[in-house]
Amino acid sequence: MIEWLAFPLLVAGAAAIPKGSNERKSIQTIFENTGYGITNKKGEPQFPKFKKKYPIVDGEEKIGTKYVFQIPLGLPATKMAELEKKVHFFSDGLSRPVLVEFKAWVIPKDPRKYLVIKVFKKDIPDLFPYKLVPECPVYPEKHKKAGENKWVIPLGKVLEGMLWHDFEQIPHMTVAGTTRFGKTVFLKVLVTYLIEYHPQDVELYIIDLKGGLEFGRYKLLEQVKGVASNPMEAAIMLDGIHNQMKEEYKYFQENFYTNISNTPIKKRKFIIVDEAAQLAPEKWMKKEQKEMLGMCQFFLGEITRIGGGLGYREVFCTQYPTSDTLPRSIKQNSDGKVTFRLPSGYASEVAIDERGAEELPSDVKGRGLYKTHELQKMQVPLLEDHDMWKRLERYQVPQSLKGATENVVEYREKEKPAGEDLVKFG
Ligand SMILES: Nc1ncnc2c1ncn2[C@@H]1O[C@H](COP(=O)(O)OP(=O)(O)OP(=O)(O)O)[C@@H](O)[C@H]1O
Ligand SMILES: [Mg+2]
Repeated sequence: MIEWLAFPLLVAGAAAIPKGSNERKSIQTIFENTGYGITNKKGEPQFPKFKKKYPIVDGEEKIGTKYVFQIPLGLPATKMAELEKKVHFFSDGLSRPVLVEFKAWVIPKDPRKYLVIKVFKKDIPDLFPYKLVPECPVYPEKHKKAGENKWVIPLGKVLEGMLWHDFEQIPHMTVAGTTRFGKTVFLKVLVTYLIEYHPQDVELYIIDLKGGLEFGRYKLLEQVKGVASNPMEAAIMLDGIHNQMKEEYKYFQENFYTNISNTPIKKRKFIIVDEAAQLAPEKWMKKEQKEMLGMCQFFLGEITRIGGGLGYREVFCTQYPTSDTLPRSIKQNSDGKVTFRLPSGYASEVAIDERGAEELPSDVKGRGLYKTHELQKMQVPLLEDHDMWKRLERYQVPQSLKGATENVVEYREKEKPAGEDLVKFG
């Protein structure tokens, strides 16, 4: 009978690997010591077999080595998922940062799935200044125009290089994290990068519920169409956006547009909420106040439900992820989830649907997790206020020249519809 070899609780053997010994052999020793394999009919243990190794490069630099192993027949995929989560077996044993994956096409022309152990020379940095963000592959320096329909922002430095978020692929995002761990800095990176790369086409609507303290200064930028600094202003702003969205929906229907990505419309509208916990109705509040906050949450939910195909992008940020502060409609429609450190595994489950944010280091600001279909650990760039201002001040316009929000519908000619993304206004 074939049997799984169980993971022992303590991995004493793995920790005993002498430094400097051959990495490949060390990985095999870890498989043996952790019992990662099966015993065959004859009672012989079978472990993953080494197939190939490749260098991991970031630009010109070799940053690590990728070891590919074939797993013994009969070891189920559930065991692989388990091993992917037990990265520390390898990182502790090798004294190096490690990523574990079980995937196909790791070997050229070979569609079979292999176990991949990536061993890196250096860990994610504790500090990653904004000025070190490399040129995004979709915005090559000399061809900025070529990238103008891309809406990509830097999320942070990961073990394998740089992690980006593409708002055309994933229109809405939630951001969570205990106070002082980097939410607002992340929002400032996002705002700055969007304006730097799309000065003509980005429109920003910012709900800064710390009384406008963080974003008040950016009100005068040509791209910032409004900064709401309290729930009442937020309700008025969101009501306006919701009405505008309804108009655009009709226009899209009339023109058989199903998704803005397939139309000539260049504008994208970002609704950014910093500290959404302030929008959660509380029992002790007056009825009118509760209703107003409920409306704000409803509009924000509608933007994520309907707005994606119409060119609206929502970034919803909260300190305390609970079902009250992170409404289900928003969470369900936001496929990009960023979190910084959180106080508990429960909060992490609310924020990113799995544990992990509670284990982020308590002494590293800007260290976060990014969850889409997979989970990545990253160090968000640090952008200081004075640097942000230096980059953006050229876009200031005198207040008297800042008109009302223009009608976003720019083109009237018919386009061939593509995609199926237009969701019904209900
Ligand atoms: N990516 C980063 N890299 C390095 N330091 C950072 C980073 N992000 C934030 N910090 C440091 O942490 C401080 C607090 O960050 P920030 O204001 O973004 O926190 P926050 O999560 O918005 O907090 P709050 O919930 O109280 O608003 C910053 O002033 C900065 O010193
Ligand atoms: Mg903040």
